Amino acid sequence: MHEASFTSIDDLTDSQVKDVLELADEYERNGAAYAGKGNGLIMGSIFLEPSTRTRGSFESAMLRLGGNVISVTDAASSSIKKGETLADTARIWSGYCDLIVLRHPWEGAAAAFAEFADVPVINAGDGGNEHPTQTLVDLFTLKKEYGKLDGLSMAICGDLRLNRAVHSLIFALLRFGMDSYLVAPKGFGLPDHVENRIRRTYGVDVQAGDPAPFASLFESGGVDGKSGQSNDTEEVGLDALYVTSTDSHQLTMERSIRRAERRASLLDEDILTLYLTRRQREREQVEEAGSSPYPRVTPDVLRRRAFRQAIVMHPLPRVDEVAQEVDEDDRSRYFQQARYGVPVRQALIALITGRKKWSEAADSLPGKKVASGVGEIACSNAACVFVREPSSASREFFIDLVDKTPGVTCRYCGREVSAAWFRRGEHGTVRRHISKITESDVKGDKKLSLYSTLEDAIADGLKPGAGRDGPSVEYISGREGVSSRA
Ligand code: NCD
Repeated sequence: MHEASFTSIDDLTDSQVKDVLELADEYERNGAAYAGKGNGLIMGSIFLEPSTRTRGSFESAMLRLGGNVISVTDAASSSIKKGETLADTARIWSGYCDLIVLRHPWEGAAAAFAEFADVPVINAGDGGNEHPTQTLVDLFTLKKEYGKLDGLSMAICGDLRLNRAVHSLIFALLRFGMDSYLVAPKGFGLPDHVENRIRRTYGVDVQAGDPAPFASLFESGGVDGKSGQSNDTEEVGLDALYVTSTDSHQLTMERSIRRAERRASLLDEDILTLYLTRRQREREQVEEAGSSPYPRVTPDVLRRRAFRQAIVMHPLPRVDEVAQEVDEDDRSRYFQQARYGVPVRQALIALITGRKKWSEAADSLPGKKVASGVGEIACSNAACVFVREPSSASREFFIDLVDKTPGVTCRYCGREVSAAWFRRGEHGTVRRHISKITESDVKGDKKLSLYSTLEDAIADGLKPGAGRDGPSVEYISGREGVSSRA
């Protein structure tokens, strides 16, 4: 894998994100600043899902930098249609260009692709997982508006379950000191694995928020754009969650609770951005009944006290989440946000290809992933590259130890993966209960193998009860705390 690849928002440190935003600002203000920066570079632009803004702005960015672009916009016109794997496509395209921008319907596709490419790979959206460059554009828009990120708050409204732009955005808001109100119709809330990552990687809890201030968003909305005509939050089945960027470890317990209680309900003085998102119908497994009203911003909503300072953002395309009349309101920012895609992606390309230098700051990547383990465990997310094309995915999983509790997650889609048995080192003993994994197990070069069942562990060459000459299998019951030979 090329170390400069950018497949998740957490592949950039805070200072690198700031570098992108600062350089984008320079490019946005002064066209001459970027002239010639991309001379001689070729960008591979592989978009296997529809795209208007992301592809358009990436390609425009490269051309404005003075580089060139070769693209695939339809799997049917390339060897992918003939069954070529992601891994092979990555190897081949590495020989044709200096960086590759990939949009793909599978979760984790960009991370898998990057493992086989020897040029930097940028994730332009991998199924319902992440869309990290949209997040850079969103942060840039906020920075331009408010001159800062820290201390702002945003209400993210709509389909939080399958919208990849929302997932990357929430992670970034937490990192940059913003609070989020997550406003979703019932059934469209944050998926468990995203909530888990918020808790395990950033150390903050998602709390129940007060839905009342957001009821007006549901008054003229509807999943199919039909009028919901209701401001009863129970009737519309509205979920509101609140995520504070405050790290509870940095505050005393009492202050942290007080702050959370105060902020879980919207305050008049909040500088609030309304971020609307489209329902991601194309990713829904089964077409769900369209009875639940969907949030919608109208001029009426913007007249409400809670939103009088709000600007309106949307990654676009909009369907009916923002009424056309709002386009005329001087607080609408979505078209400007889309235009910022060019300078932000110019800056990202210049930095990732080494045409501009990252600052020297030594901050580390977020996350508490301390090691990876291999073994006979599998991700069970049908939309994940691990399941869709196992030959292009490695069998390594992330293991983190948060509060000494091991968590095993898929390195591609972030879903929790179940593992019951583990073995330390090449010839160690197989043990039950991954809760026995310790910090020293996951540090250094020690290999850790994980198994879902004892049968899998045995199939991997373990001989139960083989004694001194071979590996042995030990069973430790977590419940009774006793150990006995199997
Ligand atoms: C988003 C995407 O493709 O995830 N669009 C974009 O890139 N600006 C959002 C969406 O399609 O709803």
